[in-house]
Amino acid sequence: MAVITFANTKGGAGKTTAVLLLATELARKGYRVAILDADPQHWITRWHEISGDVPNLEVIDFVTSASLPLHISENSEAIDYFIIDLPGARNPLLATAIGLSDHVLIPIQGCAMDARGGAQVLELLQYLDEKAGIKIAHSVVLTRVNSMVTTRALQLVKSLLSQRNVPVLDTAIIERSAFRDIFDCGGTLHSMDPARVSNLDRARENALCFVEEIMRKVPVRLPAAARLAGLLMRDAA
Ligand SMILES: Nc1ncnc2c1ncn2[C@@H]1O[C@H](COP(=O)(O)OP(=O)(O)O)[C@@H](O)[C@H]1O
Ligand SMILES: [Mg+2]
Repeated sequence: MAVITFANTKGGAGKTTAVLLLATELARKGYRVAILDADPQHWITRWHEISGDVPNLEVIDFVTSASLPLHISENSEAIDYFIIDLPGARNPLLATAIGLSDHVLIPIQGCAMDARGGAQVLELLQYLDEKAGIKIAHSVVLTRVNSMVTTRALQLVKSLLSQRNVPVLDTAIIERSAFRDIFDCGGTLHSMDPARVSNLDRARENALCFVEEIMRKVPVRLPAAARLAGLLMRDAA
C-alpha cells in the first residue's frame, strides 16, 4: 500500500487533473485505487458521479485533517494506492497529508512563471527534514507543458529547480484538451471517442508515461488476483 499526495498551495497548478490521470491509469492496470478528495470544489467527486462505476477505483469525499488518517488505516488492506487531492490553498490538511505520504508530487505549471505555490510545499518538506528528521520522498511534475515549444518560462522553472536540487519527473504533463474534457465527459481517456477528442492518442501516451514513472518511484506489488488475470490475458493473446 502506498500513499501519494499532490500538493501545491496555488489553485490551477494541475493537481486535480494529475490525480485523475494517475488514478484512472493505475486502476486500469489492475491496482485498487482510492482517491481521497479533500478539495472543497469536489471536482473528482463530481467526475466520479457522472462516470458511473470505474473498476478498481473508489472516491472518498469530504476528507478532513481528522478523517484522513482513518480513511487510510481502515482501507489499507483493500487499497493499493491512496491518492490525495488537496485544496489549492494553505490548509491544515497539507501537513497531515504530507506526513502520511510515501511520495509527494508537486505539480508546477510549465507555462507560468509563478512557482510560489510549489515552493511553499518544498519549504514545508525541507522544514520537516531539518527540524524533525522526517524525510518524505517528493518530486515536481511539470504540468500544462506546451507540446510544440519549450517556452522561456519552462526553461526558467527547470533551471531554478535544478539549482536547488529538487527532483523533477522526466515526464511532463502536456497541455491537452483530452485532460480538460475528461471532467466534462466522465469516464477515462480510454472510454473517450478518438473521433471527438483531438490528439487523444498522444494524451493517452503521455498519461501512461507519467504513471509508469510514478510506479517506478512508488512501487506497490499488484494483488495476486490481478497478476493472475494479467498472466491469463497474456497467455490467451
Ligand atoms: N495538462 C492539462 N491540459 C489541459 N488543461 C489542463 C491541464 N492541467 C490542468 N488543466 C486545466 O487547468 C485548470 C486547473 O487545473 P486543475 O487540475 O484543476 O488544477 P488544481 O487542482 O491545481 O487547481 C482546469 O481547468 C484544468 O482543466
Ligand atoms: Mg484541484
